[in-house]
Amino acid sequence: MTESSNKAHASCIVIPDAENTYPLDQFAVPQHYKDDLNSVMIPNGLILNRLEKLAQDIVEDIHAPLVVLCVLKGGHQVFSDLVNFIKQLNTRAGRSLPLSLEFIRMKSYHNDQSSGKVEIIGMNMSNLKGKHVLVVEDIVDTGRSLVKLCNTLNEQGPETLRTFSLLLKRTPHSNGFQPDYVGFEIPDEFVVGYCLDYNEYFRDLDHICIISPVGREKYKEAA
Ligand code: HPA
Ligand code: MG
Repeated sequence: MTESSNKAHASCIVIPDAENTYPLDQFAVPQHYKDDLNSVMIPNGLILNRLEKLAQDIVEDIHAPLVVLCVLKGGHQVFSDLVNFIKQLNTRAGRSLPLSLEFIRMKSYHNDQSSGKVEIIGMNMSNLKGKHVLVVEDIVDTGRSLVKLCNTLNEQGPETLRTFSLLLKRTPHSNGFQPDYVGFEIPDEFVVGYCLDYNEYFRDLDHICIISPVGREKYKEAA
């Protein structure tokens, strides 16, 4: 696992491939998921260590009051841990980055896939005008939903709009979107845990893991 050398990208930890993940039986995982996972890709402790550093980077970069915007449901855990680290810097490290916290859900416009926008539910969008905004996501895969979200948020006239994603998937389906802050670049595998789900399962798992064929089958959506 090395730091990305591609300066066009936000620098982050690069997880090379699925073979470099950890054996499941070496970690504590919920009993009810033990057959449903192949391996541990990112242990919970490593996620937290990385978020502590990204919180420092954010506090270095941004000095104005900040609206931190959690994209539910998947972003819940990373948002909560990241905000906690920023709060610790504010109380113990002599830093001062006032935060306001917002929570949204995204809904696609089903009849107009090409609109390039999304419907946002859960907040009064006019709160963003003239503000510094940081969007916090769990994962960027194709990049399509984050691009649409940014298009929609930019219409509100924020002073600045930055994006944060815990995970960035290396996939041929990517549209090339690069968040400003990235925790880990991961191989093209379906991952669950740390609030990332498969059909609403696995959010209650602390580590980011690769799902197994058994898990895929067990929690497959009824047709
Ligand atoms: N896991 C969970 N949700 C996702 C993923 C993934 O790998 N990619 C896009 N959404
Ligand atoms: Mg998400």
